[in-house]
Amino acid sequence: MKREYKEIIKILGKNKVRINEPMENHTTFKIGGPADLYYEAKTNQDLVKVIKSVSKLSVPYFILGNGSNLLVGDKGYRGMVIKNLVSGAKVIRKLKKPIKFEKIKGVPYKAADPKKYLNVIGLDYPDERLDTEVEVQAGTSLQSFIRWSFKQKLAGLQWFAGIPASVGGAVIHNAHGFTRLFSSYISELRVLDKRGIVRSVKASEIDFGYGFSNIQQKYLALLSIRLLLSSQNTAQAKATYEEWRQRKLVIQPQTNCPGSYFKNISEDLAKKIGAPTPSAGWLIDQCGLKRVKIGKVQVSEKHANFIVNFDGAKAADVVKLVTLIKKKVKEKFGIDLEEEVVRIGEF
Ligand code: EPU
Repeated sequence: MKREYKEIIKILGKNKVRINEPMENHTTFKIGGPADLYYEAKTNQDLVKVIKSVSKLSVPYFILGNGSNLLVGDKGYRGMVIKNLVSGAKVIRKLKKPIKFEKIKGVPYKAADPKKYLNVIGLDYPDERLDTEVEVQAGTSLQSFIRWSFKQKLAGLQWFAGIPASVGGAVIHNAHGFTRLFSSYISELRVLDKRGIVRSVKASEIDFGYGFSNIQQKYLALLSIRLLLSSQNTAQAKATYEEWRQRKLVIQPQTNCPGSYFKNISEDLAKKIGAPTPSAGWLIDQCGLKRVKIGKVQVSEKHANFIVNFDGAKAADVVKLVTLIKKKVKEKFGIDLEEEVVRIGEF
């Protein structure tokens, strides 16, 4: 075993660090070889301590949330995977003056076939005014956080129903729900900066885009998040959450997949090629790729932007299928699809 690994095990305790942990047990895709080292952080002190140790010893690390949106290579990860299990949320303050919700443009969503795929009819309504600040730990499950917010009679997060992420993952990848981006609700973040100091940064200091933020480039870790929610219309928000979740259940595979595989294209590009929607699923579907299978992975028959693992699939088969999809979409539409799912480890 590497000298640095021995050192880390000594610092964190032999019974706290797992060796050669199969990552297929920790991703929603249920794919992935072993991580050399694996550690579960249950408090912020744990998290800060482990990240400082691996950084000091130059051991590569990856902070894992809920394991969605992720493809780990069959040969596994050389370094330490740190599972963030630090969870909890609290109400911080009521704003003196509520502020208007600012919808950020740039979520490429348009239902071309609103009845057949995601039925969005009668779902949308004007956004709430934001008047209450809450704080949540990055390792909290997004769905339990949303349910907690409803218990506090707070609305806003209903559009993120059913996304199987941790709150930290939803922030780092700037999750999108319907036409809203998660970043629209964020006021402040608590991070571990590159010098190993815990500090607060304003949301305006971060670059956020559709499915994107620069948090991982700028900081060693995201610890907690402050968001602005609304005490208006909470009954409607809760009903919308349930309804939206049900509608998604019908058309999106729920297990053994990482979520949508490719990013949607921009609305401008969709217009240019005469596509009725920017949906990557539509482009893939038009290429006749639904149900195409390589090894034990298949393009879902429910929705063409989902790649599903039929028990025991290999990352290598996913890569082959992704390559085929990209090739066909390029041939038919002249478009390079961009992957939304993040790859880590050795393939
Ligand atoms: N369509 C097809 N065939 C398909 C799938 C879709 O023709 O196999 C067409 C239909 O015409 C449909 C349109 O594409 O009306 C749009 O499809 P859908 O309503 O399912 O939305 P999407 O744009 O494909 C996006 C997100 C989903 C998110 C939904 C709802 C991306 C890449 N996908 O899907 O996000 O749940 O909108 O907000 O942005 C995720 O990112 O993991 C994800 C699931």
